[in-house]
This record gives sequence, structure tokens and C-alpha cells, in this order.
Amino acid sequence: MEKKIEIKKTIFSGIQPSGNLNIGNYIGAISQWVKMQEKYNCIFSIVDYHAITVKQSPEELRRRIIEVVKIYLAAGIDPNKSIIFQQSAVAAHTELAWILNCYGARIADLNKMTQFKDKAGENQESVSVGLYDYPVLMAADILLYNTEIVPVGEDQKQHVELARDIAKRFNNEFGETFLIPQAVIKQEGARIMSLLDPKKKMSKSDSNQNNCIGLLDDIEVARKKIMRAVTDSGSEIEYDLEDKPALSNLLTIYAQLGTREIPRLVKDYRGKGYGDFKKDLADVVVKFLTDFQKKYNKISDDKVIKILEAGRKKVEKLASAKMEKVRQVIGVR
Ligand code: TYM
Repeated sequence: MEKKIEIKKTIFSGIQPSGNLNIGNYIGAISQWVKMQEKYNCIFSIVDYHAITVKQSPEELRRRIIEVVKIYLAAGIDPNKSIIFQQSAVAAHTELAWILNCYGARIADLNKMTQFKDKAGENQESVSVGLYDYPVLMAADILLYNTEIVPVGEDQKQHVELARDIAKRFNNEFGETFLIPQAVIKQEGARIMSLLDPKKKMSKSDSNQNNCIGLLDDIEVARKKIMRAVTDSGSEIEYDLEDKPALSNLLTIYAQLGTREIPRLVKDYRGKGYGDFKKDLADVVVKFLTDFQKKYNKISDDKVIKILEAGRKKVEKLASAKMEKVRQVIGVR
């Protein structure tokens, strides 16, 4: 019988070790990755060179790199199926970023990046060049591995589009060198909002961590954060992004971390108040965190270091092959 050879597509994604990872990172990104492991060649990075685009304490950065790997593992990323590696361990990322800075990336595109505008705020002139150039390093991460799919939360969509534009421009100039990647964003949960301000994204770099449920938060602290989360006027439990943005966000979290979908939850809470709803939501969050942290706490630093080294070896080969080709086509070899 003829054997069918299936060529799996490659997916690439990463998280910055720049703060306490929260349920937004889990729901928007990591939970998608876990499901994709069977079907795709998966590469997941700890993008530490992205983290240094804003100031980091060296000790804390070192600790967080290990922490993010443990979070990947506790969430269900299996190092036997997926590659896990540290961005800074593979020099090709910064090398390719430089080349893309020269060929493909344009100032006009970077000026449009909303995340840069948000992060730099009033200080656009005094933030690091790295913060401005960050989407080009992200394009390099993606393009190095013939990535076809980039599973991310909604806030990264614009960056993936830029990576597509850069790849197309480079290919136009030098011939087919990069595959054109595509962002994959969940229909529900792609943008988890702050608990205290539903107009703002839940963010690991938020200075007020009461806005977020950290994956490693103390269980009772997490419960209190849910009980103190803002709600909307009225008393009905409804999903309505316009009129009930806070409730809609809490319903999304409930559905994503629990077992009931939003329409079912709305039905089940008909006639009940916000208090009952939040109490039950807090139980769901606490159960999720308890199970998650149990797994997290069993993972040793030694295991993490071995996984990162094995991952580095695997991607190094792929990245070197791509860089050879890139150096050739631009004429430095
Ligand atoms: P980062 O570290 O800010 O976030 C990691 C992932 O979590 C998603 N996310 C959210 N999803 C839903 N709701 C939220 N409130 C929320 N907050 C964060 C993000 O969309 C992201 O998927 N630049 C990237 C890291 C990166 C990368 C890459 C990603 C570097 N190179 C290459 C993909 C491919 C970042 O800063 O994500």
C-alpha cells in the first residue's frame, strides 16, 4: 500500500518573560498552543530579547525565563511534541532582525504600531530604540522557521501583519526566501480585559496587579480579585460588549476556564445576581489555578534547563540553514 507522507505545517509563538504571566496569556495564547501540538510542528520561545526592550532586573529576568518554561509545561506543552527554547540562545534571531531592518522593514510601518504608541506613551523620544524596533525582531522570530501559523492574542495581530509585509518585500527583492505567515486568533478569549477597567487589556506589565489574575497568584488573593472585579450597571448576567463590557469579560473568563459555554452560563444565571455569579466564577478560577499550580510546583529547574538545551539544539539547525540562504541572497556570502 502506498504510504501517505503528511507534511506538518510549522507554528511559532512566544511570550516575553517580563512580568507575572496571567490568565490572559493563558487563554489568548498558551491554551491554543496546547491543542495545536498534535497537528503541527510547534516551536515555542521564551522571547527574552523582547523583554529587554524595557528595563529588567537581571536577577528577575533570569528567574522569569525559568518560570515561563515551567508555565508552558504546567499548561500542557509537551517537550516531546513541541520545541521549547530561549530566544537569546539562538543568535540567528538578532542577526535576521538586523537584516530585516535593512531589507523589508520601513519606518512608516513601525510608526503605525499601536503597541509601541501605547507602551511609549508621552515618552516616544526617550524610550529605547529596541522598543521601537521590537516588531522587526518578532518578524525575524517567525520568518526563521518557515512558520505558517502564529497563534497569538489579538494585541499581536498587527505585528504578525507586519511580519507578512516584511517577508513579501524581501521575497520580491531577493526571490522566494520566506514563507508568508498567518496569525491565528481565538474567536473567544483573544482579548481578556482588566478586572478593574474593562476598556483596558489585562496586561502582565500593568503596575496594578489587581487588574490581573496571575497564573501563580496566591489562591485566596485571586479569589478576592474576582470578588472585587468591577461589574456594569443593572443586575442581569448578560453578554453584551457594548452595554456590559465588564460582565462580558467575566463571562468569557468563566467559559474559558470552566466547562460551560457563554450562552449556557447566561441561561443558568437568569434571575440570579452579580454576587452569586462572581462567587461561582471565583470558585472556577480557584480550581483552575490550584490544578495548574500543583503541576507547576512539581517541575524542577534542572528539568527546565535540559529542555531549553534540547530545544536550542533543534532550532539552531533550522535557523542556521535559513541564515545561510539569507546571507547568500543578500550577497554577504
Ligand atoms: P506577550 O508576551 O505580550 O504576550 C504573550 C501572548 O499572550 C497574549 N496576550 C493576551 N491574550 C488575550 N488576552 C490578553 N489580555 C492578553 N495579553 C497577552 C499575546 O497576544 C501573546 O500571544 N511580541 C509578543 C511575543 C513574541 C511573539 C514572537 C509572538 C515575540 N516574538 C513571535 C509570536 C511570534 C509579545 O510581546 O507577547
